[in-house]
Amino acid sequence: MTFTPGAAGAPLVEIRNLWTVFQTPDGDQVVHRDLDLTIRRGEVLSLVGGSGTGKTVLLRQILGLEHPSKGTVSVLGRAPGQFSAKAAANVGMLFQHGALFSAFNVLDNIAFPLRELKVLPDELIRDAALVKLQMVGLDPKHATKSPADLSGGMIKRVALARALIMDPPLLLLDEPTAGLDPEGADGFCDLLRGLHRELGLTVVMVTHDLDTLFDLSTRIAVLADHKVIVAGTARDVIAYPHPFIHEYFLGGRGKRAMEALHDGSVPASLAGPAGDAPASHNER
Ligand SMILES: Nc1ncnc2c1ncn2[C@@H]1O[C@H](COP(=O)(O)OP(=O)(O)O)[C@@H](O)[C@H]1O
Ligand SMILES: [Mg+2]
Repeated sequence: MTFTPGAAGAPLVEIRNLWTVFQTPDGDQVVHRDLDLTIRRGEVLSLVGGSGTGKTVLLRQILGLEHPSKGTVSVLGRAPGQFSAKAAANVGMLFQHGALFSAFNVLDNIAFPLRELKVLPDELIRDAALVKLQMVGLDPKHATKSPADLSGGMIKRVALARALIMDPPLLLLDEPTAGLDPEGADGFCDLLRGLHRELGLTVVMVTHDLDTLFDLSTRIAVLADHKVIVAGTARDVIAYPHPFIHEYFLGGRGKRAMEALHDGSVPASLAGPAGDAPASHNER
């Protein structure tokens, strides 16, 4: 197993022998089959895989919103909690489409998980939410706006502030830059990079966007054939022979990724040393 030097902290998320099977009218649909993955403290681990390979379901299982049919998920050594304000203290999630409450203004959206706990006075909660609003790069004047009056990029930032309200050590991002224009996506990547560094976060991110992938990841895990077939640096992953990887990284749009690897614009931590041993596909 190859780990990024300096990024290989203690395991924070451990997924073992995980099966996810959904009952459908046509019979059982196996989404994950005996999937293993370890996510270490301080990593930005990106999950890539074709549409419908179970990336979102895996994030929801780490969050504790869904439970595997078989196998175990542990976060900080324990099974993830049910979705509750307490669980939000360990894991924050940025949902794919922002998912703000349309009836609440910006500040009340951010404050929501903290209000649910019912332990802090309202002024403290407001202040905490305002701090988070500024942390995601938004001016306090937006605090009273309704989600309907925000741009797509602002919705993502507010949703991110809400995900961070309880200062969780683990942040899950489901396609954080999808739907943003290139400039908005770059800005959001800069924000995420800064927060990862300043808050010492561990991040698990699903993304289809190669720029976001190479910009932020310290390690890439590929979901195919119902499991994580390879996890490692970009070099490790690209060297792994599999039709999905070939198409994803070496097909039309992937060419740019290869060029980036060779011209050095991929962070050294992700590119890995040339000639590095390929990552084992056994994640343990
Ligand atoms: N609650 C559910 N009940 C039945 N099938 C589901 C449920 N959630 C997800 N699925 C199915 O599981 C597969 C993986 O879904 P998902 O994790 O959303 O994929 P993606 O990798 O695109 O994020 C899809 O075929 C989806 O239809
Ligand atoms: Mg998804």
